[in-house]
Amino acid sequence: MNLSDKVVWITGASSGIGEAIAYKLAKEGCKLIISARRVDELNRVKSNLNINEENILILPIDLEEHNNANKWTQKVVDKFNRIDILINNGGISQESFALNTTSEVEQKIMDINYFGNIALSKAVVPIMKKQKSGKIAVITSIIGKFGLPRLSTYAASKHALYGFYDSFRLEIKEDGISVLLVCPGFINTNVTLNAITGDGSTFKKNSPAQENGMKTDVLANIFVKAIKSNRNHKYIGGKELLSIPFKIFLPSLFYNIMLKMSKNKK
Ligand SMILES: NC(=O)c1ccc[n+]([C@@H]2O[C@H](COP(=O)([O-])OP(=O)(O)OC[C@H]3O[C@@H](n4cnc5c(N)ncnc54)[C@H](OP(=O)(O)O)[C@@H]3O)[C@@H](O)[C@H]2O)c1
Repeated sequence: MNLSDKVVWITGASSGIGEAIAYKLAKEGCKLIISARRVDELNRVKSNLNINEENILILPIDLEEHNNANKWTQKVVDKFNRIDILINNGGISQESFALNTTSEVEQKIMDINYFGNIALSKAVVPIMKKQKSGKIAVITSIIGKFGLPRLSTYAASKHALYGFYDSFRLEIKEDGISVLLVCPGFINTNVTLNAITGDGSTFKKNSPAQENGMKTDVLANIFVKAIKSNRNHKYIGGKELLSIPFKIFLPSLFYNIMLKMSKNKK
């Protein structure tokens, strides 16, 4: 797939993974819609993009307010008349034990990471159906493949994305629309710093896993190659990704090791 002139909507483009993907796609000649809540950060990203004004739209969205998905989508269509690729990347992490997490916080995480994500896809797919082409790329997580302490609702939201998109992909394939699920391991962003705690406050501390993780520009290069291909799924990260086959083939040993590691961290 040649990305030149493709209209690409990236959520969570104000920092981290989404920001790095925006820079890479601008170099590929894409027309970009960049979305997130922080407009000042979206303007900063835009100013780094080196892109003509007619080829960029800053579209502030709060994924928690996902009943606005059709309204947001209409703004994209009003500007560019089409949507070739939706990159569902925006999301929030968690730092709290399940028993210390209020149901409001659980709802917020699910609204942003799951309901907001799928609402955008469901709003965009009718446009792609008319075009008879389109691609939805979804940033899931290694934590969508197993669980860890203090990440129960985050893990649930990312597992849910697999269930939804593995089904949805089969429903829209014949309309010329494909779904790429991208599963990052540990990536060097502020995702843990920005994580929500059990009472709804921001965690404000980073984690060694993130600090030692893959750089976002490295991820963005691999991501763009995957977008150009016909792949349904792509893992991106370091040796932490080995935990996924390990869980599948040696589940008892996997859980015993995870239990020991979790006890050490308490
Ligand atoms: N870093 C990792 O190790 C890692 C691993 C696996 C998966 N992921 C996933 O990668 C995605 C990007 O995260 P990141 O690592 O780049 O962290 P990040 O720097 O914290 O980026 C998160 C992005 O999501 C946006 N966002 C958060 N809440 C939002 C909301 N309510 N509405 C709209 N946008 C919202 C943020 O923008 P605003 O705050 O401006 O709204 C920001 O642009 C997430 O889905 C995360 O789960 C990350």
